[in-house]
Amino acid sequence: MADTRPIGVFDSGIGGLTVLREIWKVLPGESTIYFGDNSRAPYGNKSRSTIIRYSLQNMKFLESKDVKMIVIACNTASAYAYDTLKDRAGVPVVEVVTPGAEAAIRATKNGRIGIIGTKATISTGVYKKAVEDCAEKHGIKNIEIYQKTCPLFVSLAEEGWWDNEIARLTAKEYLTPLKEAGIDTLVMACTHYPLLAKVIGEIMGDVITLVNTGEAAAAVVKNMLTEGGNTSGDAGTPKREFFTSDEPEMFESVATPFLGEGLPSGTGHFTTDRYEVEI
Ligand code: DGL
Repeated sequence: MADTRPIGVFDSGIGGLTVLREIWKVLPGESTIYFGDNSRAPYGNKSRSTIIRYSLQNMKFLESKDVKMIVIACNTASAYAYDTLKDRAGVPVVEVVTPGAEAAIRATKNGRIGIIGTKATISTGVYKKAVEDCAEKHGIKNIEIYQKTCPLFVSLAEEGWWDNEIARLTAKEYLTPLKEAGIDTLVMACTHYPLLAKVIGEIMGDVITLVNTGEAAAAVVKNMLTEGGNTSGDAGTPKREFFTSDEPEMFESVATPFLGEGLPSGTGHFTTDRYEVEI
């Protein structure tokens, strides 16, 4: 029987829309509810306990909307809070780290993989471990991992500066060490980075495969729903809802480039800090 409940997706703000758009591409018939925690963003420079608390609160909100699955569409929240959410959620939880790692292992030919993300994501070492675990699982030896935090990419993406001289100079500064290390695969381990893919590609050169973790996660969402018999089938027009913890107008004004299309009007406002959670 068709499961017409929506897929719940959350992020620290607008970046997760790059994940949502990938979900829409592979599952156009599914209803979705997106929550952007804009009033408490960014998560990328917060502590572990804060990120876990915020993520648990966001999970509670999505559960109150009777979602059939929760997608952590934020690399930072995935890196810190996935284990906790997976244990506590009443529905399956999908994160973006392992799918990104799997995609990197599939793509690399020379075994040299770069990972770029927020300070919080990189400092957990979760991505590095995920890539190493995937390599081991597939019997691939001699993997070398090079990591780099690129905090300014988030501001550039939000400012709409993803294809100008400032973006190019910033990318050059951040990425030159990875290029010099001879990587052939680069994991964009932050929701905002796919917007800068053109400039990142220019700096790194054609030989590099860029891994979009949102795309990789969307494929996992599709597989899980299909294998579990939980797709919505031909249930008619899907409903696409949006909520933000900050001003809806503000959210709507910056969302379009991240989503790749205009938002349906009527973004709701909701703050999840009202939920009491234990870490
Ligand atoms: N969504 C975050 C991530 O993917 C980036 C923005 C933030 O720091 O909150 O890591």
